Amino acid sequence: MKDLIVKHNELSAEEFIQLWETVWGQGPSQEQTRLAMEHTLFRVSVFDGDQIVAMARVIGDMGLDYYIKDVIVRPEYQGRGIGCMLMGEILQFINDHGVEGTDIFVELCAMPDKIPFYEKFGFSANEAQRLRIFHRVERKHEEI
Ligand SMILES: CC(C)(COP(=O)(O)OP(=O)(O)OC[C@H]1O[C@@H](n2cnc3c(N)ncnc32)[C@H](O)[C@@H]1OP(=O)(O)O)[C@@H](O)C(=O)NCCC(=O)NCCS
Repeated sequence: MKDLIVKHNELSAEEFIQLWETVWGQGPSQEQTRLAMEHTLFRVSVFDGDQIVAMARVIGDMGLDYYIKDVIVRPEYQGRGIGCMLMGEILQFINDHGVEGTDIFVELCAMPDKIPFYEKFGFSANEAQRLRIFHRVERKHEEI
């Protein structure tokens, strides 16, 4: 943890894709990722020198709902408390920006083997199932 640099809201599309690909294979497109970074409520990234080693982000509406996405620690840096630090940064952001005195719904989606990691921060599964679709974006172009 010594000498690691934590940055807020500086995570670029290039850094996101590079880190994503260390754990999940082929990353998303530059164009989609740039738009996603622009519309993310909070981005946290961790650097060892000039190499990105971890990231996480929060999307949502600031009032009622916050959703934690893309919590990733580069494989060779896992198990050193960096994931824990990312979660701390995110929960601090929510606490700093949510309406004081209210309860805020904080959600995330986890693979079964990562559930124990999130349980450490108080998250628990409910009976809801995640439904999803990969929607193909196609627009009809008017002929002129
Ligand atoms: C999940 C992930 C972010 C954890 O990051 P990390 O830096 O290795 O975690 P830490 O070192 O901060 O560990 C914090 C605690 O969680 C525990 N932990 C970490 N990963 C765990 C797992 N998969 N299952 C159970 N416990 C886990 C650690 O043992 C540690 O416990 P302790 O505080 O009692 O010592 C990291 O493994 C990762 O990036 N994985 C690949 C990407 C991914 O799957 N992200 C999650 C998307 S759902």
